[in-house]
Amino acid sequence: MSLARTGSILNLHRSAPLAACALAALAFALGAAGASAQQAATPASTFEPVVGQQGKDVIWVPTTPMILERMLRMAQVTPRDIVVDLGSGDGRIAIAAAKDFGARARGLEYNPDMVALSKREAIKAGVADRVTFEEADIFKADFSNATVVTMYLLPNLNRDLRPIILKMKPGTRVASHQFDMGEWEADEQCDLAGRQCFFWIVPAQVGGTWKIKSGAAEYEVALKQTFQKVTGLVNVANGKSSLREPMLRADHLRFSLVDDKGVQHDFDGRVSGTSLKGTMRTGARSVPFEATRTGD
Ligand SMILES: C[S@@+](CC[C@H](N)C(=O)[O-])C[C@H]1O[C@@H](n2cnc3c(N)ncnc32)[C@H](O)[C@@H]1O
Repeated sequence: MSLARTGSILNLHRSAPLAACALAALAFALGAAGASAQQAATPASTFEPVVGQQGKDVIWVPTTPMILERMLRMAQVTPRDIVVDLGSGDGRIAIAAAKDFGARARGLEYNPDMVALSKREAIKAGVADRVTFEEADIFKADFSNATVVTMYLLPNLNRDLRPIILKMKPGTRVASHQFDMGEWEADEQCDLAGRQCFFWIVPAQVGGTWKIKSGAAEYEVALKQTFQKVTGLVNVANGKSSLREPMLRADHLRFSLVDDKGVQHDFDGRVSGTSLKGTMRTGARSVPFEATRTGD
């Protein structure tokens, strides 16, 4: 880990609720070599983590119980979920997801002592059958099976993970403690006593030209997508017209268009790859429609 990375998280964590953690982190930064040597000599079963200890890309600072509960509530975790915590530290988020929300959970953590500690904590919490911890680099591991991703990393790491997360199944929920994802604006965020949580839903990829058919009616709609935000144009006689109120959430796409006769049609469908199927409502009448995406 570079000193620059150590320095940046120290600065970012120096807020009131985690002042103690930040001080411990500072102590670590000042005496990193001594602490590492001490930990290396400590038998794994008695390993005691130290706030601020070195990690591969970011030091360890744990998420407080209040924040982790809020993150899991924002993501509306249920027993049907697979929650993956990226850089799982002592395992607390994955363990809480299993114990308090009934989910299955995975923790991916680079530090083997933290992985061993997390496994012991999962046994103590009685959730070892639903939680696994793996010694892994989050940038190399496959976590595409997650329905919920949680993380407490750094802004640059979030941004580096962004393309990987955006390729996940539409509808995957993502909760981050303290750090955002740059240009990918959060769908929701919260501020708890000065600590931030950010929440996103992975959007389907919808940018391109859609040829829509509904009975005898046909429309060509061009969508532009920036993360979860969508704008679009529909071909009308002698020109193009903007779509009204386009909305994308996970695989759910909605928009309205006004045709050349001045009639409004409201489309509401589900995207699956290059296919979109749903219902077109015109006044009181609803009929099915299908669409295929042909270009980017
Ligand atoms: C700020 S702590 C957060 C721990 C835990 N997620 C929580 O919120 O309590 C970040 C953790 O990521 C781990 N880590 C750093 N770089 C990593 C990497 N490339 N792959 C896996 N874990 C990493 C660190 O060892 C540390 O435990």
